[in-house]
Amino acid sequence: MGDYDFTAEPCVLIQGAMDTETEYLIGQLKEPQKVIMGNWTFYTGFLGKYEEPVVISKTYQGMVNAAAASSLALFNFKPKAVINQGIAGGHDPSFHRGDIVLGEKVIPMGAMIREYAPEGEGISETKFEPLPIEIYYARTGHREKVTEFPCDEKLLQIAERVETTLHTGRGVLGSADEWNNQIDRIALLREKYHTASEDMESAAVAQLCLSYGIPFLGIRILSNSIVNGEEFDESVGIEGQKFTLRLVEALHGV
Ligand code: 5AD
Repeated sequence: MGDYDFTAEPCVLIQGAMDTETEYLIGQLKEPQKVIMGNWTFYTGFLGKYEEPVVISKTYQGMVNAAAASSLALFNFKPKAVINQGIAGGHDPSFHRGDIVLGEKVIPMGAMIREYAPEGEGISETKFEPLPIEIYYARTGHREKVTEFPCDEKLLQIAERVETTLHTGRGVLGSADEWNNQIDRIALLREKYHTASEDMESAAVAQLCLSYGIPFLGIRILSNSIVNGEEFDESVGIEGQKFTLRLVEALHGV
């Protein structure tokens, strides 16, 4: 293990925004090495019973932080897969606090074009359409505009087979620099995008993984669900990390 070159050999990049989303995993690393790039810290090492090479990245909260940390990691390491995991708020009432949403895709739900209204007509929160975001595929030189980012189907299927006592299920991850508490607004987002949860990082990472052509999976454990009247408890992030550890073990040899 000692001479593994994380800048050239494959690894799994695991991200979390907060300590409650990263510290358990960092503590499980064998041969941990701290790598500092700019404002961000990465931990290389070997995780789980098969000693899978991984890089753990604490991104800090929000889209810009997640994008910056991802950009550094995707350029400087060679991830064969990226797992963005952490806590989230529930949109779908069938998921409760402590349940895990396995991302089937990610919607950048803050990207919107608002309908024209003349002066004096007031402000409508409901009149908007998704604003397509430009993706540049460096490998082909091709560009396109998209309104959603995929999660990797193979990673998703492996995640679905991870043994856990937690309730897990597929769902659409909504993501933006937003924290929504209006029940009608969440209902509108669900109507438009079928979101199961909302977080503040996964869309930034999924967008860059699409651009770089790297398999991506978003995993979110609910720390709050306003639609079920369940208040914020960030400590569930530790259970999310334990699930991620099992997933990394299941990725061995894949
Ligand atoms: N809305 C948005 N982000 C949430 N998070 C947890 N709950 C929510 C919510 N209801 C996540 C974000 C961010 C931090 C506040 O926790 O991804 O990192």
